[in-house]
Amino acid sequence: MDNIFEVKDLSYQVGEKRILKNISLNIKRGKYVTFVGPSGSGKSTLMRILASMISASSGEALFNGKHISSYEPTKYRQRVSYAFQQPTLFGKTIRENLEFPYEVRGEEFDEAQVVKLLKYVNLDESYIDKSVNDVSGGEKQRIALLRNLIFKPEVLITDEVTTGLDSDNKEIIHSILNKFNQDDGLTILRVTHDDSEIEQSTDKITIKNGEVI
Ligand SMILES: Nc1ncnc2c1ncn2[C@@H]1O[C@H](COP(=O)(O)OP(=O)(O)OP(=O)(O)O)[C@@H](O)[C@H]1O
Ligand SMILES: [Mg+2]
Repeated sequence: MDNIFEVKDLSYQVGEKRILKNISLNIKRGKYVTFVGPSGSGKSTLMRILASMISASSGEALFNGKHISSYEPTKYRQRVSYAFQQPTLFGKTIRENLEFPYEVRGEEFDEAQVVKLLKYVNLDESYIDKSVNDVSGGEKQRIALLRNLIFKPEVLITDEVTTGLDSDNKEIIHSILNKFNQDDGLTILRVTHDDSEIEQSTDKITIKNGEVI
C-alpha cells in the first residue's frame, strides 16, 4: 500500500471553535480524490493543512511517511501545490505570473515549455504578453492553474477551481487535470460543489461538520 498522505486523528481548533474533529484518512499515490460536503464543513481548512499553509492543532498528517511539519515549507509547497478557491494573478502581465515558478527555483524562464502548457488550456502564445487586466475570469483561472503545473508537483490540490466557470472552461480544466493524473501519475485532491464533477468522481470523501462521514 503506497499512501502519499496519512492523516490520523487530526483536529484543528481556533479559540473554542473546533473546525476539524479527529479526521483520519489515507490517500494513495496517483489517485484523483474528490472532497465534498456543505459550505463551512472544513474542506478548505483540511486542504490548507495538507498544503502546509496552516498546522493542525492535534493529530498527525504525514506526507510520504513523514510529518508535514518536518519538511521545509517552501520546498514542501513545490511538491504539494495548492490551487486556490479564488485565483489571483499578480503584477502587470501574464509573463510575470508564468516566470514566477522559474524565479523561485532559480531557473531560467522556458518560454517553449510555457507555450506548450498554454496550448493544453486552449490559450496561444499571445497570452504571455497580455496584461492581467485583459483576460477573462476563465482565462485567469486557467493561467493560475498553469503556475501550479509548470514544475510538476507530486500532489495538486484544487479548491473549487471551476466554480463560476462556463462548461467550456470547466471542460478545459478537467482535461488538463485528467491528463496530468493519467499520464504523469499526479495525485489530485479536488474540492468541489459541482454536481457533475461529484457525479463523475470515483473516489469521494465527504466532510461534514469537521468530520469525515
Ligand atoms: N482562521 C479561522 N478562524 C476562525 N474560523 C475559521 C478559520 N478558518 C476557517 N474558519 C471557519 O471554519 C469553518 C470551515 O471553513 P472552511 O473554509 O474550511 O470550509 P469549507 O468546507 O471549505 O467551505 P466552502 O465549501 O464554503 O468553501 C467555517 O465555519 C469557517 O468560518
Ligand atoms: Mg472552501
